Amino acid sequence: MSEEHGGFRYDDKRVLVVGCYSGMGESTAKIVHSLGAEVHGVDYKDPDFELASFTSCDLRSKGEIESMLSSLQGPFDSVFYCAGLPPTHPAIDVMRVNVAAVRAVVEGVQPLVPRGGAISIISSTGGLGFFQHMQEIMELLSTDGFDGAVEWCEQHADTVADGYVFSKEVIIVYTMKRALEIAEAGVRLNCISPGPTQTPMMPEFEAMSGAELLQKFEGPMKRKALPDEMGWPLAFLNSDAASFVNGFNLVIDGGFLAGTMTGAIDVAALLA
Ligand SMILES: NC(=O)c1ccc[n+]([C@@H]2O[C@H](COP(=O)([O-])OP(=O)(O)OC[C@H]3O[C@@H](n4cnc5c(N)ncnc54)[C@H](O)[C@@H]3O)[C@@H](O)[C@H]2O)c1
Repeated sequence: MSEEHGGFRYDDKRVLVVGCYSGMGESTAKIVHSLGAEVHGVDYKDPDFELASFTSCDLRSKGEIESMLSSLQGPFDSVFYCAGLPPTHPAIDVMRVNVAAVRAVVEGVQPLVPRGGAISIISSTGGLGFFQHMQEIMELLSTDGFDGAVEWCEQHADTVADGYVFSKEVIIVYTMKRALEIAEAGVRLNCISPGPTQTPMMPEFEAMSGAELLQKFEGPMKRKALPDEMGWPLAFLNSDAASFVNGFNLVIDGGFLAGTMTGAIDVAALLA
């Protein structure tokens, strides 16, 4: 290993966590801080832990995103986009935060990320069926800017549905596509797809789908993940230890996908 290679440490690294108030974003911010990073945060809720700086921004609003981006002082060696809305919110707001803002923030901060830096986004195991909607997703991704994405979603309400599953599918495809486009700049882009995780979002999923049904999807580990169990893999993906990992969707589901791929878990039976 070369001496300049930082491995899994974040010493002397400046990190931006978008969606730092709670859940996986809060966990990631605290983990990379413990690994030596100077951590800057963005959210629409004020976090109750210390950060090098905090910028308030409602990611549903193009105007707020633009002023947040113009106020940021780079460089950021590492950027985590952890913000997200569950399907208990209006579908168009879900698409704004989970897709339009993802693209605006990733592309807005990328010029502040030096060569060797990395960006990660959070998708979901709910988005793993992305290949069934490649045409629609590519069409959405060909739109121009925040407003272009929102307009496309308004015109394709049937495809968007409740916004959540489709938004997570879009994130996976966007990650693969955009990673190739920015590779030349020496910046890596990856995403994770968590299974059910015990964060403040979980009661909202339970209210919608029922706690019993969600429990069936816990898989071989027979429990939900903890926020840190997403924060540590995210910290790995943006670290120098993952310097050749690019355009990748890391599924973190305790083995649920492995069960469905090998026939050990029958999703249709779980839903019956
Ligand atoms: N919890 C799960 O089971 C689960 C599973 C798969 C994927 N995810 C995804 O993980 C990501 C993180 O969610 P979480 O589970 O940690 O829940 P969470 O609700 O604790 O975190 C979401 C964060 O996004 C911020 N946020 C939401 N809307 C915002 C807005 N308009 N402007 C600015 N910030 C906003 C929240 O304040 C919060 O800090 C989300 O994208 C979610 O969809 C969650």
